Amino acid sequence: RKEEVSRHQQVLDMAQAHYARSLKQSPEAVRYLKQRGVTGEFAARFGLGWAGHDRRGLAAVFPNYEEPVLVESGLVIESEDGRRYDRFRERIMFPIRNQRGSLIGFGGRIIGKGEPKYLNSPETPLFSKGNELYGLWEARTAIRGEGHVLVVEGYMDVVGLAQHGVGNAVATLGTATTPAHIQKLLRASSKIVFSFDGDKAGRRAAWRALLACLPLLRDDISMRFLFLPADHDPDSYIREYGAEAFKATVAEAMALSRFMLEELASHHAMDEPEGRAACVHEAKPLFDLLPAGALRMQIEREFARLVQLTPEELAQMFRGVPDAQP
Ligand code: GTP
Ligand code: MN
Ligand code: MN
Ligand code: MN
Ligand code: MN
Repeated sequence: RKEEVSRHQQVLDMAQAHYARSLKQSPEAVRYLKQRGVTGEFAARFGLGWAGHDRRGLAAVFPNYEEPVLVESGLVIESEDGRRYDRFRERIMFPIRNQRGSLIGFGGRIIGKGEPKYLNSPETPLFSKGNELYGLWEARTAIRGEGHVLVVEGYMDVVGLAQHGVGNAVATLGTATTPAHIQKLLRASSKIVFSFDGDKAGRRAAWRALLACLPLLRDDISMRFLFLPADHDPDSYIREYGAEAFKATVAEAMALSRFMLEELASHHAMDEPEGRAACVHEAKPLFDLLPAGALRMQIEREFARLVQLTPEELAQMFRGVPDAQP
């Protein structure tokens, strides 16, 4: 078992070296990264690579293309009729490392049109999307230096921010933020700022992240949410407005409590008793997730004001209202 994992590891490392070499030899891939503002220095820092057009490009480094570990590692796909070919083709390759720096998988962005835009390694014994964060290894020093970690949606957000001197960003891997992600992040920093895309999907992703955060809130940690203009993500924003402007928006990020209360209020007609009652009803399961502590008391007090109840009445409601779920 252990030997299997280490061959798996070796295969990933060899593929990464191959993709990185191929990038240097591919004018179209270099042109793509240049056009997105990524320099050779930052491509090297993130170990970016290029998976070319060849259906069996990896055969150049793995002469025994039939080796089972190539399929197990997700680098090679076996079709139903038994034919094998490279999973990643015509893609900019983003190596994904765990927090110890070991390569565990890849994300690949298609250059030009084509579906899907991003393709990840499949789940393997080394790689589990719901647990890992892209860029955590690369960002570790900057996270310590800045005193907070930024969580963004995409690979290019991480690389684009780093390119502009904001090196403390990590990305979820196209999945919703999970409690496992938050636990991992809290080991790196007690201050987390979520900076998702300014579109509807980004807003939804922020709400899902908030739900993942609630059970882990403590009085000594800080979670904030930054909402960019609707047509921007962190990468496009920093390219257009620069690092100082981006850092200014980070400094003004919204406290978790405010995001939670504004979002709850926005779902209901707060100028009517019915709306306020429905809001209390919706809020109850969220407050149930919050661990007892000063922060929970503070948020409850603000919420009581919002729904025009005294803190005592609200506490009574939260104890007395039957659960929404059957
Ligand atoms: P660019 O267009 O390269 O700037 O990418 P982006 O990161 O801005 O893309 P987007 O905001 O659409 O998506 C954010 C993240 O979601 C990506 O970095 C991926 O991790 C993931 N994602 C986006 N599109 C796809 C897709 O087609 N398939 C999968 N599996 N993940 C995707
Ligand atoms: Mn988006
Ligand atoms: Mn983008
Ligand atoms: Mn985006
Ligand atoms: Mn609602």
